[in-house]
Amino acid sequence: MGQILSNTLLLQLSEFIASNLALHFPENHWDVLERNITLAAKEFGFQDVQKFIKHIIASPLTRNHSELLASHLTINETYFWREANSFKVLEQKILPKLIQLRQKEKRIKIWSAGCSTGEEPYSIAIAINKLIPDLDKWDITILATDINPKILSKAKTGIYNQWSFRNTPQWLKKGYFIQKKIGKFEIIQKIKNMVTFKYLNLAEDVFPSPLNYTNAIDIIYCRNVLMYFTQERFRQIAQKFHQSLIDNGYLIVSSSELSYQNFTNFIPINFSDMLLYQKAPKKIKKQTNYSVTDNSQKPIINQMPSKPNSVFKIPKYRPIEIKNAIHNEKKRMQQIDLSYEKNLKLYMQGNYDALINKLQNRKQTPEEQILLIRAYANLGKLNEALKLCKKSISSNKLNYKTHYLYATILQENNMENEAEAILKKVINLNPNFVLSYYSLGMIFLRNNNVTDTTKCFEKILSIIHTYSQDEILPESEGLTAGRFREIINATIKR
Ligand SMILES: C[S@@+](CC[C@H](N)C(=O)[O-])C[C@H]1O[C@@H](n2cnc3c(N)ncnc32)[C@H](O)[C@@H]1O
Repeated sequence: MGQILSNTLLLQLSEFIASNLALHFPENHWDVLERNITLAAKEFGFQDVQKFIKHIIASPLTRNHSELLASHLTINETYFWREANSFKVLEQKILPKLIQLRQKEKRIKIWSAGCSTGEEPYSIAIAINKLIPDLDKWDITILATDINPKILSKAKTGIYNQWSFRNTPQWLKKGYFIQKKIGKFEIIQKIKNMVTFKYLNLAEDVFPSPLNYTNAIDIIYCRNVLMYFTQERFRQIAQKFHQSLIDNGYLIVSSSELSYQNFTNFIPINFSDMLLYQKAPKKIKKQTNYSVTDNSQKPIINQMPSKPNSVFKIPKYRPIEIKNAIHNEKKRMQQIDLSYEKNLKLYMQGNYDALINKLQNRKQTPEEQILLIRAYANLGKLNEALKLCKKSISSNKLNYKTHYLYATILQENNMENEAEAILKKVINLNPNFVLSYYSLGMIFLRNNNVTDTTKCFEKILSIIHTYSQDEILPESEGLTAGRFREIINATIKR
């Protein structure tokens, strides 16, 4: 098929895609771009591809549009245990050390960015499963994100055909899959449960953020994703991964994406034949001669992990963070007594069981109830959390925080309609509580209700205007007003 679209239109389209999806279509790939955009136009109900292109370029890119474009323009090629060397390093070097360091906290947080159909994050889960026998005692987060919702749905099913096991060691399929029918293999439930899949467009300024759990990550896998991006985006995103990582955390890219010029704020680490990038702690001066071996690594310290399928995870902070957070809580709530402070500390150290034991059988203050609800939710005891929410709301119908917790748990359970109604109540109770507008706005956004989404986000911007840049927003798990403003602006631009 010869080229039908004009060079001018293809140039506009490729620039639009580079800016909104980060994907790079240089002129010598315009034939592919034209073919794929024609298919996207058809799926969107446009007979005329030129009209379709003009339509998407002229209007702000909605989530619907970006998902549709991504599903036609991205390459989803992947398989289990891809680049075996990187899994060898994970199993033999990175994880053993991390596990050793985290014996007390028992938490690890990994992000597979651009996870495609899930083979990569499930391979990571398998590696962890091999190394941690008492997995149920650990809090392991494997966040897997992608821009393409169709492949995310496939990933969630955990069912694969033989093609996903090309170049994969035999033991992996034998040990972790159940054959469903001829040529179909389903990953075992234990591994499936370890991975949380979420939509995330890396081209948007939505990370790092505790709102989508992309903060305080120990290891980021982003392999065979950045190579399709423009150089500028490649660098920007690598820079943002740097911010998402904890000190000494690792960024793992594919062997064809290693070029150091894109990772200048990282320290390259050489593990046998494998190069990966590490975030140096702030106080350590960057070296100019990079030949760091595993012996030179510094302990990995977890700062503030939070789990995607746990709503209120504020796990183990470092002592200084606990101190600051307690100070902020104190300021916010004005009259915190000593016993509340002790309970808050227990909560922030992740001692949920101890907190529950201490509080559950006695009369609690409203603030204690909130801690208890969060502790239940973090332990996955959602029924207890919901029961206590209802009890707390019935005895104090005006506490917006309990209503907000209630809405957030409902939302996590995919009960969006119920959550929406409660969030509207929260806004009535406290019209200046920004996070309720955010949750509500995200529900509207998912339903393509642009008018109400915009209203919510404009409201947020008007409220956070009254905060200073570094001020931590109430009930936000440490999110500053400045960072929140950036996230909202980036989401509005979609
Ligand atoms: C080739 S696959 C890589 C899969 C896996 N990481 C691996 O190495 O096997 C690239 C993935 O990046 C995703 N992707 C492309 N652009 C993206 C963007 N802007 N945000 C998030 N994911 C994106 C694609 O949808 C695709 O699933």
